Amino acid sequence: MTVAPFFYLLSLLSLLQRVGSASVPLDRTGWEATADSFHAGNEPAKAIDGNEGTFWHSEYAPDNPLPNTITIDMKGNYIVNGVSIQPRQDGSGNGRIGQHIIETSVDNSNWNRVAVGAYVNDATTKKTSFVARQARYVRVTAVTEAQGANNHSAAEVNLIDTIAPAYTAPNPSKGLWINTVDFPIVPAAAAVLPNGKILLWSAYKLDDFGGGNGFTQTAIYDPATGTSTQRTISNTQHDMFCPGISMDFNGRIIVTGGNNAEKTSIYNPDTDAWITAANMRIPRGYQSTTTTWDGKIFNIGGSWSGGNGGKNGEIYDVSANTWSLIQNALVSPMLTNDRGGVYRADNHAWLFAWKNGSVFQAGPSKAMNWYNTVGAGSTTGAGTRANDGDAMNGNAIMYDAPAGKILTAGGAANYQTDQARNNAYVITLNNPGQTPTVTQTAPMGFARGFANGVVLPDGTVFVTGGQSWVEPFSDATAVQTPELWVPSTGQWTQMNPMAIPRTYHSVALLLPDATVLNGGGGLCGNCGTNHWDGEIFVPPYLLNADGSRRARPGISQAPGSLKLGGTFSVTTDRAVTAFSLVRLGTATHTVNTDQRRVPLTFTKATTGNVYSVTLPGDAGVVLPGYWYLFAMDGSGTPSPAKIVKVLQ
Ligand SMILES: *[C@@H]1O[C@H](CO)[C@@H](O)[C@H](O)[C@H]1NC(C)=O
Ligand SMILES: *[C@@H]1O[C@H](CO)[C@@H](O)[C@H](O)[C@H]1NC(C)=O
Repeated sequence: MTVAPFFYLLSLLSLLQRVGSASVPLDRTGWEATADSFHAGNEPAKAIDGNEGTFWHSEYAPDNPLPNTITIDMKGNYIVNGVSIQPRQDGSGNGRIGQHIIETSVDNSNWNRVAVGAYVNDATTKKTSFVARQARYVRVTAVTEAQGANNHSAAEVNLIDTIAPAYTAPNPSKGLWINTVDFPIVPAAAAVLPNGKILLWSAYKLDDFGGGNGFTQTAIYDPATGTSTQRTISNTQHDMFCPGISMDFNGRIIVTGGNNAEKTSIYNPDTDAWITAANMRIPRGYQSTTTTWDGKIFNIGGSWSGGNGGKNGEIYDVSANTWSLIQNALVSPMLTNDRGGVYRADNHAWLFAWKNGSVFQAGPSKAMNWYNTVGAGSTTGAGTRANDGDAMNGNAIMYDAPAGKILTAGGAANYQTDQARNNAYVITLNNPGQTPTVTQTAPMGFARGFANGVVLPDGTVFVTGGQSWVEPFSDATAVQTPELWVPSTGQWTQMNPMAIPRTYHSVALLLPDATVLNGGGGLCGNCGTNHWDGEIFVPPYLLNADGSRRARPGISQAPGSLKLGGTFSVTTDRAVTAFSLVRLGTATHTVNTDQRRVPLTFTKATTGNVYSVTLPGDAGVVLPGYWYLFAMDGSGTPSPAKIVKVLQ
């Protein structure tokens, strides 16, 4: 008998002693820590000695350049689902870990990356959770020092956690959550940028909101490297917590209202700079906005901030930098019957820009409406969502724009303290003003509100996170099993569970490599539900049966910009059977009015993998701006996206 079962038993006992706790620190007796470098008196063993007054520190002199690594040998196989790292507690910031990589191994030779990211520069204990792995070794690579000095990294690696007495490897046919990404903020809002990076922000604090403080904590995450950089934005005097978000035709992120309720700020990806734009006519928070077919930004609702009621429509002319009221775009027909009154009833509208200056409002009210956004505008009732009720904090996803198809799922009658539903519907839009067709589709396996919905390149819809009893700032009743809806069958399939709950204030976005980032949740200061991280989900379409990655097609040539109604040539590295466009998404508070998917028709040239692909011609269907272009093979495996600009 090896020592492994003995330590395994210790961990089990430890688990039993903490009834009700999902993860517990393992007993570190007998473990060994090694590092690539250490200063005399700061040996790696000091990181696992249970004494927070001592710490591992890499050699001061001569310089031992970053990165530095510390490896923990647990001397037996464990089920590990988290690492906590306590920075030195002697008052010095030297050596705090910033950018980092966490890996596990069973043999000290093959390493499995379980987390990557950046820790914020302070003395609090950093906890990284991830989907459980079997491991004997845990290696933390400190890539940078948090305070940015070119110093060596140091830390107290304090705890390794476990969850369960038995390990079952997740079935790859249900997708895999491959790694956690640690962010230097709690992201409550997010947007994909035309360069493939992700803009994230919280509020005036990294992990809390409140008041109109005139500045915002942001980060930019690069999915290609796993790293994030943090920046405080104060030049626009805008606390951008609880905003409306839309991406305009030039890929600029238009952020309105929230804690500074009248403000508009614009992030320009070309200059990596934020600018102040005109104030809205009506101050708002929790409004929704959508880019319209002619490139303006329609905006409605939002009594959470800037006063209750009267939040009728207005529109932003991007080139003139002016907001104009739309006299007849009325908020009253889209109110829910929330027990919180209008403060809640006009929140988070499900808006979809459509043909000829129209915007369709699919929910969350059970009533649906058409808004005409031109001139004095108009409001036209569009019937109800079949037998659905008000579905606040549910999701609505346009998964096939040319066919006018929107999937709606979940939500609750009241904003908070209510049972969420599992109802799902397909809305089919026709021409503006016409009452759409609504059919009920299969219900989700789980009731949920505060979830996120992401359309994938193949037209399936991934609904992730949320909770069955909606309660902001609580992870109770969190649904950690995401579901994938298939349009052709109308059925949902449950995917493998995530490690970290994603409830109120969580976000999800499709990434350029056709995986999904699901992050954030909390943003409540000294609460227990702040999530300074995201997890990356790899859908089944990228996986072989053994969990390895499928060979995937690649787009070797495609134009950078596409004309509406035009035909363009795409060359792939192998034969493909489908093309689609998915517009780059923006997400906050369950709303993502930018994502939509357009399947493309094409013909294949007689020789080579050259395809002539046609783009639909209606700007209300293919909203100009930045899109992911995907090619898919006969097994439905998507290529990595080429990001293209659809011209007006
Ligand atoms: C690096 O860290 C060591 C130990 O904390 C400290 O003595 C030294 O001054 C630091 N060097 C720099 C350049 O910050
Ligand atoms: C487009 O909308 C305008 C009103 O804004 C209306 O006068 C016109 O008839 C509509 N065109 C079509 C083709 O529906």
